[in-house]
Amino acid sequence: MPSTDQLRAQFQAALAATSTPAALRAVRDQFLSRKHGHVTALLKSVGTAPPEERRTLGAEANALRVEIEAALDAREAAIASQGPPPAAIDVTLPGRVPLLGRRHPLTQVRERVEDIFIGMGYQVIEGPELEDDWHNFEALNMPPDHPARDMQDTLYLSSPLPAPTGGRPATLLRTHTSGMQIRHMESNPPPVRLIAPGRVYRRDMADATHSPMFIQVEGLVVDEGISLGDLKGTLQTFANQLYGADVRIRLRPSFFPYTEPSAELDVQCWSCAGSGCPVCKKTGWIELLGCGMVHPAVFEAVGYDPARYTGFAFGVGIERLAMRFYGIDDMRVFYENDRRLLEQLAP
Ligand code: DAH
Repeated sequence: MPSTDQLRAQFQAALAATSTPAALRAVRDQFLSRKHGHVTALLKSVGTAPPEERRTLGAEANALRVEIEAALDAREAAIASQGPPPAAIDVTLPGRVPLLGRRHPLTQVRERVEDIFIGMGYQVIEGPELEDDWHNFEALNMPPDHPARDMQDTLYLSSPLPAPTGGRPATLLRTHTSGMQIRHMESNPPPVRLIAPGRVYRRDMADATHSPMFIQVEGLVVDEGISLGDLKGTLQTFANQLYGADVRIRLRPSFFPYTEPSAELDVQCWSCAGSGCPVCKKTGWIELLGCGMVHPAVFEAVGYDPARYTGFAFGVGIERLAMRFYGIDDMRVFYENDRRLLEQLAP
């Protein structure tokens, strides 16, 4: 893995050799592409760096990304202002307004959340949307007849009944990303510090606040001596990075089978600073995510020693964050992809 300085030098050389919009796009892709960009790879590597280096490495990598974006934008503007060579100008042609593409608002919010946690040294993992009963429910302390299974309406691809002896266990579309906690812990020893973003599915009709498919980001931290204070501090940092240095949070008791105690995180309404307004339905607080301390039964299911390890987990819905972020009150606009609307949702 090249260092930040090496990447910076490589980028500057590539940029200097670039004079056309197409070449510029290629350089942007080479360094910033979500799938194979060099800087993206560097950011992703932060999670696996030795703990004492993560903070600096994360900060440096993020700074480099910002620097590269700015340099590319500046060069793009410079190239655009030069225009084509004089002889190619046909002054009789009507003007053309170039259409600039941009990332979907849900992608922007998801990346923002990922960046915040990468900066805190978290690893980003992904897993299957087609899930089995064990990972989605059973190992999360929801045995076959557990009433909490009804908290979410599940889309099954095979029988939801308990598998008869020798039969195949039910296959389903995952209803939450919490199963990724199990998948990771089953094949990795502690300590754990990860986020797992991805699509989840529920048997819901689409309306202003529901969708049969949406995006969650799961978080999981496990080590010796992890406390509720660590959970609260982490979520406070998350809220500050998302909504600003002054934002206040509170943990409100709740219930999830896989955490004990369980809580919901509220942030103080950014619109009225807590005095009560339509945005927060006059309560002064806005609900952000579910969280809690990992239930010992979950550790037992994956073979971690609950007497030695503790941990916290959380799950946050990206659509809900994005609605709040852009002041949108109907989730469906994110999926209709009306370009007139998407164009207004600039970062
Ligand atoms: N899985 C929950 C949901 O889909 C969200 C959640 C709550 C995730 C608490 C967690 C947690 O990890 O600890 O609504």
